[in-house]
Amino acid sequence: MAEDEKEIAGFSKMGKREKIAWLAKNFLYANPVEIVKEFAEYWHDNIEAQKLLDGFSENTLTNFPVPFGIAPNFKINGRMYAVPMVIEESSVVAAASNSAKFWLSRGGFKAEVISTRKVGQVHFVYRGDKNKLFTFFSTIKEELKTGVKSITANMEGRGGGVVDMELIDFTHLEPDYFQLRAYFETVDSMGANFINSCLEEFGILLREKIQESNTFSGEEKPIEIIMCILSNYTPDCLVHAEVSCPVKDLGTFDNGQMTAEEFAKKFERAVKIARIDPYRATTHNKGIMNGIDAVVLATGNDFRAVEGCAHTYASRDGVYRSLSECEVKDGIFRFWMNFPIAIGTVGGLTSLHPLAKRSLELLGSPNAKQLMEIIVCVGLAQNFAALRSLTTIGIQAGHMKMHLTNILASMQANDEEVTKAKLHFEEKTVSVSAVRDFLEAARKNPGI
Ligand code: MEV
Repeated sequence: MAEDEKEIAGFSKMGKREKIAWLAKNFLYANPVEIVKEFAEYWHDNIEAQKLLDGFSENTLTNFPVPFGIAPNFKINGRMYAVPMVIEESSVVAAASNSAKFWLSRGGFKAEVISTRKVGQVHFVYRGDKNKLFTFFSTIKEELKTGVKSITANMEGRGGGVVDMELIDFTHLEPDYFQLRAYFETVDSMGANFINSCLEEFGILLREKIQESNTFSGEEKPIEIIMCILSNYTPDCLVHAEVSCPVKDLGTFDNGQMTAEEFAKKFERAVKIARIDPYRATTHNKGIMNGIDAVVLATGNDFRAVEGCAHTYASRDGVYRSLSECEVKDGIFRFWMNFPIAIGTVGGLTSLHPLAKRSLELLGSPNAKQLMEIIVCVGLAQNFAALRSLTTIGIQAGHMKMHLTNILASMQANDEEVTKAKLHFEEKTVSVSAVRDFLEAARKNPGI
């Protein structure tokens, strides 16, 4: 089939079955009936529920299930949580749970929101006298704020709104480029639509006010608004989370072969390595994001925004570094992280997605600050679990044990074979070839 025959107009207008049939016909599936059947198997039984899911995106054909699990035993600021996590990587939930349990008997996690300030930008071009622009901006700043009252009234009623704004000169990097940077408080909502609406209005107002002003010459007046959009870099939306205990209370590791002091020192060194080497820092931070993203997803928040922000923050001094830090001093082991995270507990998918809503209920219907604290503690717990394995028995033992179920599934093992394999591999190293060999032997000799 020629490539241009695979083009289509009006795809979005087609019905769901029609879309699937078109896909099956044009994208080389041998058996269109089979693909229609398979996609339909993942449709929700309840038509209304499916309609809701379809509406979250476009050209929706079916649902893509990902496990929704729980990491219990999280003690955060003295309160117990069973944390919902949505993730496809085996061992993440188990690792978070182990870490939560480890710290439960050592005082649990402490977390504090340092600030919740969010950022938006109006990027514009002005071809004129800079001093005039800066002086003018300081005189109209308050007018700009009052000019968006119709948008901010509700938010102000809830304690939020436009906090401040400033004008930034970028002309040393890009000719005639200036930026109006605005700061917002959006209380329990992520506030993306609110911020973007305010910014677009700021853009219009700024252009109008410059046009109307006598300060500027005719040539200076026509500013060009390039774009108005929030920034996902929110370094001031910051949470501090930490765990600590006397070194001696850490216990022993590696079946008693590693003392608490040895572990503490090795762990501290592992964190230092991730602070100096971007290669290690990337993997180290990925481990943190395993926990963070899973809770962000489970609560219907935007994990891409959280990811983007985290990695920019990790490189804020010009080198990409570990997000967490560790110190062993005066007999105390301290492990902590300052993590920027902009999320919400109202608006967006948080109340629309039935399972996101449940997740929030399971967490005791937290406000945004409490959820920020919970999420960052899970990230820290996840990082602790990874480093504990890496600096003691190694990652593969635990990782491959958890992965065993996936390997067995990929080899179409039945329930009996799965039970036998789990028993067999309890004390043995799991690898794809070892599992294949085991299954082959078990299938040849079913009596074993
Ligand atoms: C795997 O998903 C995450 C780890 O690689 C994190 C780390 O190395 O710190 C185990």
